[in-house]
Amino acid sequence: MKRLNVNIDHIATIRQARRTNEPNPVSAAVICELAGADGITTHLRSDRRHIQDYDLIALKQVVVTHLNVEMAATEEMVEIASRVKPDVVTLVPERPQEVTTEGGLDVVANFKEVKKAVDALRTNGIFVSLFIDPDLKQIKASAKLNIFQVELCTASYAHLCEEPGSATVRKIKEINAEVERIKKAARTATQAKLNVAAGHGLTYRNVAPIARIPEIEEFNIGHNIIARAALVGLDRAVREMLTAIRIA
Ligand code: PXP
Repeated sequence: MKRLNVNIDHIATIRQARRTNEPNPVSAAVICELAGADGITTHLRSDRRHIQDYDLIALKQVVVTHLNVEMAATEEMVEIASRVKPDVVTLVPERPQEVTTEGGLDVVANFKEVKKAVDALRTNGIFVSLFIDPDLKQIKASAKLNIFQVELCTASYAHLCEEPGSATVRKIKEINAEVERIKKAARTATQAKLNVAAGHGLTYRNVAPIARIPEIEEFNIGHNIIARAALVGLDRAVREMLTAIRIA
């Protein structure tokens, strides 16, 4: 069965907007697990814009399913991961000014640096996944690194799906071509004995064609789930505040 890891970063984004202590990403992780999520994913960014180091420590203690921590391949992050010891570290590229991760890690161009991080993490007993574009050269380079998994970046597919005019014949062709590219990458990775995950920009609207790719076993999905939670939970939240005011 396909697995879903829920990325809870944007629960922390809401908390950091006020530098307060709610909503707590650890509470969110527990709710996700109770709802049946197979794991929790979180990205410790170098700028700490959402998840903080203390969240990671608390998540490690509380998560009972599977904890996947995304991070850049830097010495600072490798040191933190080696102390916290999540189940999996997913190495991702990071550019300071980016709004979100912009694409996959260029394993071909940064082979030495990525290998150094992978080797250090593996020495500390941590499984490593590499977040890469669905590109055959990146898969070949990743397969040389003794990792257990690649996560295929679905950002280009997601952008095509969300652009205006996505239902036009021309756009549908482009979207189908991108699905084929992801399919081919997933097949190639499996042939190279790598597990295959996928993520970035996946939504309730666009996930189905990717979920139908048999080789993809795991999904890491965050923003769309948290965005939906904010809206489907708003009605109850308003009613509860009205009750609090009116019974005062
Ligand atoms: N996978 C990776 C490697 C990511 O960096 C992210 C974003 O943190 C996700 C999955 C989840 O993306 P989204 O929030 O768009 O679902």
